[in-house]
Amino acid sequence: MFPTQVTLVEVGPRDGLQNEAQPVGAADKIELVHRLQAAGCRAIEVTSYVSPKWVPQMADNAEVMAGIARRPGVRYSVLVPNMQGLEAALAQPAIRPDEVVVFGAASEAFSRRNINCSIAESVERFRPVVAAAHAAGLKVRAAISCALGCPYQGEVSADEVERVVTLMKGIGVDHCGIADTIGVGTPRRTQAAMERALRHFPLVEVSGHFHDTYGQALANIYACLEMGLHTFDASIAGLGGCPYARGATGNVASEDVVFMLRGMDIDSGIDLDALVDAGSWISGRLGRAPVSRAGKALLARRAAAAAEARA
Ligand code: HMG
Ligand code: MG
Repeated sequence: MFPTQVTLVEVGPRDGLQNEAQPVGAADKIELVHRLQAAGCRAIEVTSYVSPKWVPQMADNAEVMAGIARRPGVRYSVLVPNMQGLEAALAQPAIRPDEVVVFGAASEAFSRRNINCSIAESVERFRPVVAAAHAAGLKVRAAISCALGCPYQGEVSADEVERVVTLMKGIGVDHCGIADTIGVGTPRRTQAAMERALRHFPLVEVSGHFHDTYGQALANIYACLEMGLHTFDASIAGLGGCPYARGATGNVASEDVVFMLRGMDIDSGIDLDALVDAGSWISGRLGRAPVSRAGKALLARRAAAAAEARA
């Protein structure tokens, strides 16, 4: 049974930009968030409070949070890998996020590369983060990376996914995000991983995060929609990648997801034309063409219509 409404968590400012080799100024990050919220995005992952030595692109986290003119009804989230990150995120009341994301992995090898500790150690690190975030009134999402495959370990089983899901549940996270970091998942395997998450979290608190490396992301989202899932991460202009996942390319493009949902009469609350404009703008700032297929097609249609009007 398909949902009638879907929540997209726009991760472009964080996942989309964290992997950019060229420096992106805080002003551009802020402008991107403003364009996304103006297009109707109601959940935006803005930045991460991680070590600037590990991810230099996110070093301006506080500046970006401070620069956003917040809109009522929009949830702003940030990644925090440990107490140091949470404390920085909470340090100034005016720039507090609404939500924090702790990020673990279903693969030991990836956990070590990405956050420099084992899965078990990461969960113990997250335990006080979850408690302190809750005490501060924030919601906590957990992201489980490499749930459908790992660049170092290879195959990742549904049992391995469920093990981390239960560990995250045990420390009290509110939400469980299943992430295909390197985009190798296919629909049935995606459904199998989601089914394990749904054994421990309600439908409303399970989401999918699909990188599109092998062109499977929309198919995987469709497979999740069939299960009634209705929360997905997506990234404007298909930006993204993880610096610690070799070969991982961008996330599913938000424009493509909104185009598909619109065609299925599923409401996302997002204005596709404004989203395409935001994607075109950030791609221009980064000096590249948008990766989104729907974005490119709609821009070409607009250009053709403008040329016809001039003729
Ligand atoms: P570590 O080196 O083991 O940490 O890194 P440590 O506790 O030993 O501290 C070492 C240094 O880092 C110290 O500084 C700390 O102060 C500093 P020094 O004394 O050397 O100057 N430090 C911090 N600085 C700022 N903020 C902090 C922080 N913590 C320590 N929060 C650590 C461990 C987790 C910090 C590091 O591995 C790290 O920052 N990793 C982040 C990696 C990352 O951001 N990856 C991308 C995001 S995950 C992702 O993209 C996947 C996702 O999209 C889903 C999917 O697609 O799968 C979510
Ligand atoms: Mg990601």
